[in-house]
Amino acid sequence: MAATTIRLSSYLCCLLLIVQVHSVNRDNFKTCDQSGFCKRHRSLQPGNSPYVVLMDSLKITPTQISVQLLNTKTNVRLILDLYGLQGNTARVKINELEPLKTRYEIPVGDVLVGEPKQQDIKVLDKASSSITLGLENSKIVLTYSPFRIDFISGEEPLVSINSQGLLKFEHFRKKPEAPPEEAAPADPPAEGEDKKDEEVKKEEEEKKPEDPEESGLWEETFKSFHDPKPNGPASVGIDISFPGFENVYGIPEHAESMALKTTKDTDPYRLFNLDVFEYELYNPMALYGSVPVMWAHNEKSTVGIYWNNAAETWIDISSTTADKNFFSKIADLVKGNTEMAQMDTHWFSESGVIDVFVMLGPRPKDVFKQYATLTGSTELPPLFAISYHQCRWNYNDQEDVKNVDANMDLFDIPFDVIWLDIEHTDGKRYFTWDAHKFPGSKDMLDAEGAKGRKMVTIVDPHLKRDDNYKVYADAKNRDLMVKGGNGGEYEGWCWPGSSSWPDFTNPEVRNWWASKFQYSEYDGSTPDLYIWNDMNEPSVFNGPEITFHKDVLHHGGFENRDVHNLYGFYVQKATAEGILMRSNNEQRPFVLTRAFFAGSQRFGAVWTGDNMGEWSHLKVSVPMLLTLNLAGITFSGADVGGFFKNPDNELQTRWYQAAAFQPFFRAHAHIDTKRREPYLLPEENRNIVRDAIRQRYTYLPFWYTLFYHGYRSGETVMSPLWVEFPEDKSTFKMDDEYLLGSSLLVKPITDQGATGTTVYFPGKNDVWYDIQTYQSYAGAQNTYINAPLGKIPVFQRGGSIVPRKMRVRRSSSLMSADPFTLVICLNKQGEAEGDLYADDYKSFAYRSGNYIHREFSLKNNILTSSNADPNGQGSTKEWLEKLVIVGFPKAASSVHITVDGNSQSLYHSYDSTSRVLTVRKPGVNIAKDFTITIQ
Ligand code: GLC
Repeated sequence: MAATTIRLSSYLCCLLLIVQVHSVNRDNFKTCDQSGFCKRHRSLQPGNSPYVVLMDSLKITPTQISVQLLNTKTNVRLILDLYGLQGNTARVKINELEPLKTRYEIPVGDVLVGEPKQQDIKVLDKASSSITLGLENSKIVLTYSPFRIDFISGEEPLVSINSQGLLKFEHFRKKPEAPPEEAAPADPPAEGEDKKDEEVKKEEEEKKPEDPEESGLWEETFKSFHDPKPNGPASVGIDISFPGFENVYGIPEHAESMALKTTKDTDPYRLFNLDVFEYELYNPMALYGSVPVMWAHNEKSTVGIYWNNAAETWIDISSTTADKNFFSKIADLVKGNTEMAQMDTHWFSESGVIDVFVMLGPRPKDVFKQYATLTGSTELPPLFAISYHQCRWNYNDQEDVKNVDANMDLFDIPFDVIWLDIEHTDGKRYFTWDAHKFPGSKDMLDAEGAKGRKMVTIVDPHLKRDDNYKVYADAKNRDLMVKGGNGGEYEGWCWPGSSSWPDFTNPEVRNWWASKFQYSEYDGSTPDLYIWNDMNEPSVFNGPEITFHKDVLHHGGFENRDVHNLYGFYVQKATAEGILMRSNNEQRPFVLTRAFFAGSQRFGAVWTGDNMGEWSHLKVSVPMLLTLNLAGITFSGADVGGFFKNPDNELQTRWYQAAAFQPFFRAHAHIDTKRREPYLLPEENRNIVRDAIRQRYTYLPFWYTLFYHGYRSGETVMSPLWVEFPEDKSTFKMDDEYLLGSSLLVKPITDQGATGTTVYFPGKNDVWYDIQTYQSYAGAQNTYINAPLGKIPVFQRGGSIVPRKMRVRRSSSLMSADPFTLVICLNKQGEAEGDLYADDYKSFAYRSGNYIHREFSLKNNILTSSNADPNGQGSTKEWLEKLVIVGFPKAASSVHITVDGNSQSLYHSYDSTSRVLTVRKPGVNIAKDFTITIQ
């Protein structure tokens, strides 16, 4: 009854929400104080750990130790498993020894790509108070009382677990029978408070100060939403410190700077996938996605942890100094009296187990690889996906699509993909088309396809509860939906009105969903159609915090509380599998998602949701994308122009310039905004935006090669400067400029009215060249750069070779046979190197060797092209059109190319002002070995 009343009143509230999309409402989202488990963990005081290691229970195998932990206050036992893993990684798992019921663990193969490969850990020392294990070059010290674990490399402590003693593991327990006030629960105290309505809560608050230990154990109320918590308290938490570090990064998604802030005066950073209307900047509130991975970096090391838990999670961060007393006992490191910095973090999740992967680096690229070994790397995208995307809520009908397409051509602005938002459907029934507006979707798709273009339609996970809607009816008949707390099909409100949600955590449901993308099932679809998954946190307009009730039931009897942050991950996974299946696994899928989790990088791209057409949002997009990259989600972008509001011409222009040098490049806008396709801009802005988009197309070979590297190694695509310059302390907090690979430095203009900016050029011995003028700038210094509206401050590193294609066409696929230009920027020694990856740009043929990977090196005035990878057996029509050699000291007297033993001289010219030697028409097929000699 109560639930029905709540639902009805929530409908009203949700209707209001729909009408007033623009009212950000902090009250819709919990603060830590409004979340029982957050309060309980946050109130723990360091130094009071009740946990000791029971050494008698120690079991050692070559790669693992298992030992019991005793809570000396409650006598409850836990089991600790510590594994050595290949690649300088360890895993620490803590679970209940004898749980009343199984605690949720993410199935192996879903987020973790497989069972992690184990590695020997040798017992180096077994003392009465601790045991020391050796893992590759690192040592792991397990201290018995109080329980803690320390990871040490050489003599440097890197990571400490439970050094603050904040381990708290709420074991499953029986609900006390008597009302909490009267009950005197035995082991352990398990009292709850009745917070069924706000008034009672208020009265109680007035009566006595609340004991955080007893807060919301058996039920909780937030606004009008009641969470019955049938399983009682089940949260888990522990502290993780990084001695020797002053900066930590990661844990997207927050609208936050790249270097994370301490949370002393704020809530902890929250990871709980939510649809937050008009999100605020620079605060720890949760957003659409969650990746519980964190890196600590200093001049010597990069280390990190991955917290493998899909429940709501909060993370506190503070900075302190390391406990040298303790470390002097376990490592011989205390030399001198200098204090050592330390970052303390405290992680707690509402349910599940403690499962921490400790990645010990030691360099940035090592940790990215270690993390990719666990959760996978970004799949190589098809080329169109890294080109320019034109989106808006909504392109109204076929005529509109045709016009946009024609205008882009008319104004010479390339684009690869046009997108259709929710209005293209028959009443928000996904997989359908509005018959009046889109009577001939196949013809429309074919017309795009003829220009090498694609289309993306939106497919959200909520299904309109209409028995005549075949997707819904099918799911209902097969009983595939998530269940409400009462056991019936869960019902909530989203775009179509009353909706239900398939249970994507169930592999069978995912298979069913994937089958809906078959051409025979998705009427009017063709191979040129790709997919956008939105609202997959999931967004439930009338749900608590605009999402599922926590007691919604999933596959295996688990609650949404256990799996929440994975729902969107599974939606995208199932969709990507569908797109893959419809081509018999031959063509690469493309799926954009709003909600995500660790591992989402394997299924497509992520965007930063509903931002605003304001300068502050353009600015924050840079740290947000850097953080996503650090968390493995390298294929990411922000809505160009901002989703809400009407950006002025200058802001739009600057946004295009920035995004042309960011991984996922899509313009998008809210339905209530003015039309803003780039050709609608006044001439000056239009020309600048056109140039920015065209520049993106000229750099596609470079981007594609970057993504190939990322796919192979897990490396970031868009990187903070410290990834390439790990010893340069001045870069550790720098998040307004970034690197693409190691070759391009980008400093987007994000301030209104700016006509220049100060750029930090990293690298003492480095020289950087402006990509337009080829003017050079010396490294390891700040330099003011003029950047009037037409200028994008982008610089190529001396010593690098960047492949480009200078003949820009209407779409990337029309350029696929076009020739390359190599831009060779010389370092101080007059040398440079680089590479190029190419394949058919769309299929999986590369997996059977159908690709080319070339390595270029210029030394002693000889450019050599050789095969970078003998497994690449592919061929191509693409050829080498031009060399642009930047920083070349003087005109050449002759240049000749040698291929297969035959030499031929080449036309060349020299510009002494820009110091650029241009070599024309080497003409050689790019897959061939050759040398070009300059004299
Ligand atoms: C959500 C999405 C936005 C989309 C809109 C309508 O707000 O974040 O990109 O346009 O829904 O589907």
